[in-house]
Amino acid sequence: MRKKIVAGNWKMNKLYSEAVELVDEITIMLKDDIKSDDIVKILIPSFPYLRKVARHSHGIKNLFTGAQNCAYEEGGAFTGEVSAAMIKSLGGTHIIIGHSERRSYFHETHEELKKKVNIVLGQSLTPIFCVGESQEKRHAKEHFSVVEKQISDSLFHLNAAEFGKVVLAYEPVWAIGTGLTATSQQAQEMHLFIRTLIDKKYGKETANSVSILYGGSCNAKNAAELFACPDVDGGLIGGASLVAKDFVTIIHSFPS
Ligand code: 13P
Repeated sequence: MRKKIVAGNWKMNKLYSEAVELVDEITIMLKDDIKSDDIVKILIPSFPYLRKVARHSHGIKNLFTGAQNCAYEEGGAFTGEVSAAMIKSLGGTHIIIGHSERRSYFHETHEELKKKVNIVLGQSLTPIFCVGESQEKRHAKEHFSVVEKQISDSLFHLNAAEFGKVVLAYEPVWAIGTGLTATSQQAQEMHLFIRTLIDKKYGKETANSVSILYGGSCNAKNAAELFACPDVDGGLIGGASLVAKDFVTIIHSFPS
């Protein structure tokens, strides 16, 4: 059974007091919100706020805290890095791996991402593994092959049980922070392509159990149309997750 998921990637935004205000606003809205009980909701602040956000989220059904990245080593002499075990010790349950901003600005490779996925699963945490093509690759009609390579190079070493623990996020790079959303048709086409890829490698059961989120200028206005697509299981939200009302509207955007 695929989970419906809405995750808010706060990126490098909000000062501490603002982050606390945001989590408080969101939790007040979700507290008695029975209709969103079964939807997995994940708040993904910067590392320094993780503990506070996790504590404030406590007691709300299916509300989790995540991190935006982690080290590809378990621990030791890696100045400036944060390990998956540390994130877990602060109450984090999910970790974004391979966000396009990390791939492009920090030159993360398929090999490093593969190690990170292993580390995250080794801590019994959930990787939210991001894939997506640039505008150039889409124009060259190479979007399917780009996404296929991102998935096969960093995830296809996993066995079916391990793969079933991964959440995927399709985030076309040209749609991130640009206001250009993929049309629901483009999103559905890629999500179906990804699910078919999983089916070929691991079989129907795994393919039908993995949640695939859409990310890239998904907001309170367009989420309902995107979430209505049969292979879109929710969203990884950037800008709109920084406004409590919009984030909660997105959580309410699944077809009933
Ligand atoms: P925006 O929603 O701001 O386009 O960001 C999407 C994203 O990168 C989420 O990880």
